Amino acid sequence: MIIKNIALILAAGRGHRMSRGTPKQYLDVGGITILRRTVNVFLKNPTIDLIQVIIHPDDRELYDTAVGDIGLPEPVLGGKTRQNSVLNGLEAIGKHFPEYVYIHDAARPFLEQKTLNSLICEVDKSGAVIPALRIRDTIKCITEETIHSTLDRDYLYCAQTPQAFRYKAIFMAHRRFENINFTDDSAIAEKAGLKVRIIEGLENNFKITTKEDLNKANIMTKKYYTDVRIGYGVDVHAFDKGDHVILGGVKIPHTMSLKGHSDADVAIHAITDAVLGAIAAGDIGEHFPPSDPEWKNVSSDVFLKHAVNLVAKKKGIINSIDITIVCEEPKIGPHRDLIRSNISKIMDFDIDRISIKATTTEKLGFTGKGQGIMVHAVATIKLLE
Ligand code: CTP
Ligand code: MG
Repeated sequence: MIIKNIALILAAGRGHRMSRGTPKQYLDVGGITILRRTVNVFLKNPTIDLIQVIIHPDDRELYDTAVGDIGLPEPVLGGKTRQNSVLNGLEAIGKHFPEYVYIHDAARPFLEQKTLNSLICEVDKSGAVIPALRIRDTIKCITEETIHSTLDRDYLYCAQTPQAFRYKAIFMAHRRFENINFTDDSAIAEKAGLKVRIIEGLENNFKITTKEDLNKANIMTKKYYTDVRIGYGVDVHAFDKGDHVILGGVKIPHTMSLKGHSDADVAIHAITDAVLGAIAAGDIGEHFPPSDPEWKNVSSDVFLKHAVNLVAKKKGIINSIDITIVCEEPKIGPHRDLIRSNISKIMDFDIDRISIKATTTEKLGFTGKGQGIMVHAVATIKLLE
């Protein structure tokens, strides 16, 4: 395979402005480490052929925990400064003879594909390009705590990463100016006489540097769960001879039982359909056909667990379950909390978010005449945007 585009991810810093503890790139943001989020952005882009991470020699275990399962090449060890780390990385990837390199801070996990794609197109034309963000505030030069002058904002931008270059050109520039300190790679490119283009950066691609940044990052990841879905399910089972019914996995003594192919747990069937409905995944009969002998007399837990797994596969979060059991008898009130805790156990989900209600139909209709039980269920689910 030809390796044309390599992402070089800088993760060898100590993150001291954040804390003296675990380096910031290995901290969790919304349940996923910052480094993993950053790596994921490049993994999702089909143009990037290889992702090379640069790490601190003390962080091997943290690295393995964060991204060890992804199958990335052996991490390269960084140096004392960011610039040293970049040079180590550039040296290490030379064996692949890449055409372009995208040098990116691990601490910028919210890079968007839109930006990466613009860089990919632009570097192919101009050979050197970075994302830059227009300055919003007015910038002052200060001497002795007094404003000396006000800069013309129209010419001022904040440099971000990834900074994309022709590999050979940036490698030569880094080598040549190894002994001068620069604050980013484009400064080295400029010094070497390369023309560096800019594309418009995005605010989200900020560098997580302080505790406040980490807070902001956590808030941003919650924002990703704003795709709220509502699912509705209803089920009916007729009474038959017997001495108990099963509702929400709880055995309730009664003068009759419910007829059904499985354990006839009408409540769990309705909830399962509501959960499937919220993710538009068909209905219970489609997943577990009543004609299939495999599901005969099976405990309905299996159906509900399956629906919950489908939500998890979509990286969704179940937000609430609300059901109404419609029957004259048995009385549900005395069993309500047991049913709630049982459903909470089956779904591995907070009991506070599970509501069980019951009603009669004033002796009207089939439920009123005691011919069977009907259950309505509503599920709300949050998916990633
Ligand atoms: N970095 C690196 N090697 C270094 C220093 C920094 O690879 N010797 C990386 C960091 O891991 C980070 C990126 O360069 O992803 C940008 O640097 P910065 O935000 O300054 O991170 P740290 O140096 O880790 O943080 P601090 O300056 O607060 O200690
Ligand atoms: Mg630093």
